[in-house]
Amino acid sequence: MSDARPPAALSPLDEERFGVRTAKASAVTASALPALLDCCRRERVAFLIARCPASDLRAAQAMEAAGFFLTDTLVYYARDLTRGPEPPEDTGVGVRSVRPGEEHAVQAVAADAFRDYLGHYHADPRLDRARCDEVYSSWALRSCLLREVAEAVLVAEREGRIVGFATLKLNSPGEGEGILFGVARAAQGLGVYRALMVRGMGWCRARGAGRMIVSTQLTNTAVQRVWTRLGFELDDAVLTFHKWFDGP
Ligand SMILES: CC(C)(COP(=O)(O)OP(=O)(O)OC[C@H]1O[C@@H](n2cnc3c(N)ncnc32)[C@H](O)[C@@H]1OP(=O)(O)O)[C@@H](O)C(=O)NCCC(=O)NCCS
Repeated sequence: MSDARPPAALSPLDEERFGVRTAKASAVTASALPALLDCCRRERVAFLIARCPASDLRAAQAMEAAGFFLTDTLVYYARDLTRGPEPPEDTGVGVRSVRPGEEHAVQAVAADAFRDYLGHYHADPRLDRARCDEVYSSWALRSCLLREVAEAVLVAEREGRIVGFATLKLNSPGEGEGILFGVARAAQGLGVYRALMVRGMGWCRARGAGRMIVSTQLTNTAVQRVWTRLGFELDDAVLTFHKWFDGP
C-alpha cells in the first residue's frame, strides 16, 4: 500500500531564522528514507530535521548511514487526569492567564530561560547560537499571539513581575498537552514550574480532557522530576536527527 503522506514539509520559520532551506520529517522509517532524501534533493533542501520513534533502531541506523546525526532524544510523559491524587491548586505561586500587552514579557522570560538550551537546534554546531535561542523566544511570543500555536498561555508572577509561562493546547477532546514552559533564571528552584504544571493540569481537566501529555529532552531532568511527582508516567520516546545536504 502506498503512503500518500508527503515525506517532508518545508519549514519557512526555520528557513527565515537560519537562512537555509529547511524541511522537517516525522516518523521516518528505513524503507521510506530513500524517498525522503529524493524529495529533499528535488526541493533543494539544505537542512533536514528528521524524527523517528526511539524504538525504530533500523530507521535510526539507516539515517546514520545516510549522514544524519543525532541531536536529541525526546521523552513523552502522560497523566490520567481522571485518577487521583489531584495536587492541591494552592501552590503559593500566583498563576493566571496572560493578558493582552504582556506578550513581550513572556518572550523575555523565554529568551532568558532558553539561552543555551539543551534542545536539538543548540546540539547542531552549524547553527548560530543566538538564532537557536530565538527559536524558543519567538515560539513563546507566537504562542501569545496566535491561537493555532497555543490555545492558552499561563503566566506565573512574583512581586508583580512575570517570571514564568506555560503554553497549552487540546490535541483532541480527551487529551490536553503542555507545550512550552519556561522560568526566568532568577526565579528558578522556587517551585514556579511545578505551580505552572499544576495549573496546566487544571486547564486540561476544566476542558474535559481526561489525559495530559508533556514532552522534553531526555536530559531535562528538572522537569521530569516534577512530572513523576505529579503522577505522570513515561509513555514514549522519539529520536531527532539533523542532516545537511552539502555534507558527506
Ligand atoms: C526547567 C525549569 C522550567 C524548571 O523551573 P523551576 O521553576 O526552577 O522548577 P521548580 O522550582 O518547580 O523545580 C523543579 C525541579 O527542578 C530543579 N531545577 C530547577 N532549575 C534547575 C536547573 N536549572 N537545573 C537542574 N535542576 C533544576 C529544582 O531544584 C526542582 O527539583 P528538586 O525539587 O529535586 O530540587 C526551568 O529551569 C527552565 O525554564 N529551564 C529552561 C527551559 C526548560 O527546560 N523548559 C521546560 C521544557 S519545555
